[in-house]
Amino acid sequence: MIHKLLPAQINVLLVILGLTGCAQWNYQDLSDPSRDVWQKPQGVVEKLSIARGARVADLGAGGGYFTWHLAKAVGARGTVYAVDTKESSINMIIKEMVARGTPNVRPVRAEPHDPRLPEPVDLVFSCDGYHDMNDRVDYFRSLASSLRPGGRVAILDFHPRGFFSSMFVHRTAKEEVRREMEAAGYQLLNDYDVVDSQHFQVFAKAER
Ligand SMILES: C[S@@+](CC[C@H](N)C(=O)[O-])C[C@H]1O[C@@H](n2cnc3c(N)ncnc32)[C@H](O)[C@@H]1O
Repeated sequence: MIHKLLPAQINVLLVILGLTGCAQWNYQDLSDPSRDVWQKPQGVVEKLSIARGARVADLGAGGGYFTWHLAKAVGARGTVYAVDTKESSINMIIKEMVARGTPNVRPVRAEPHDPRLPEPVDLVFSCDGYHDMNDRVDYFRSLASSLRPGGRVAILDFHPRGFFSSMFVHRTAKEEVRREMEAAGYQLLNDYDVVDSQHFQVFAKAER
């Protein structure tokens, strides 16, 4: 239901939820197919040119909205780690895995400061989770050791547009993401414009 709203209406809803202390995402709503209209998940995943057989971490996977698109991209020989700190997210991923019969997805219950990835990956993908993370420079600096050679980090987050968004809602500006990622030892590879309401940047470890 939430994702049937326009991004501006979501802003207002988030402010109300935040002010009433009940800012709890409903993973069912996040996974509503009507979200595809503005989120354009296929367009986002296509830009990443993910190789068949790749290992991908969906960091802050939530209800798995992007997880299933990423699982399709890596194919049967690849693996998508659906990483989240919340038990409710992991439970929904497991339920969906069973319903969809998707063998190449592995849920990972993370700690706020540690994604607990079982092996290095080719791509860390994060949509709408970056702003939730603490100590991001330290977090992404240590995450570099979980990237395979040539590994990338793709980050999408909402633009902090408008009064409500900048005053009350915790979102991260594109320039802030870039500054923090550079401080964490990465360089910008791509800056895509696929989703009107979100910035979409891809990083790799900076060459020394
Ligand atoms: C708004 S949801 C987005 C879910 C999904 N990526 C999507 O686009 O529908 C953000 C998710 O990030 C998770 N999260 C926040 N901090 C995290 C962290 N440090 N490590 C892993 N997941 C985290 C939250 O539990 C939540 O499920």
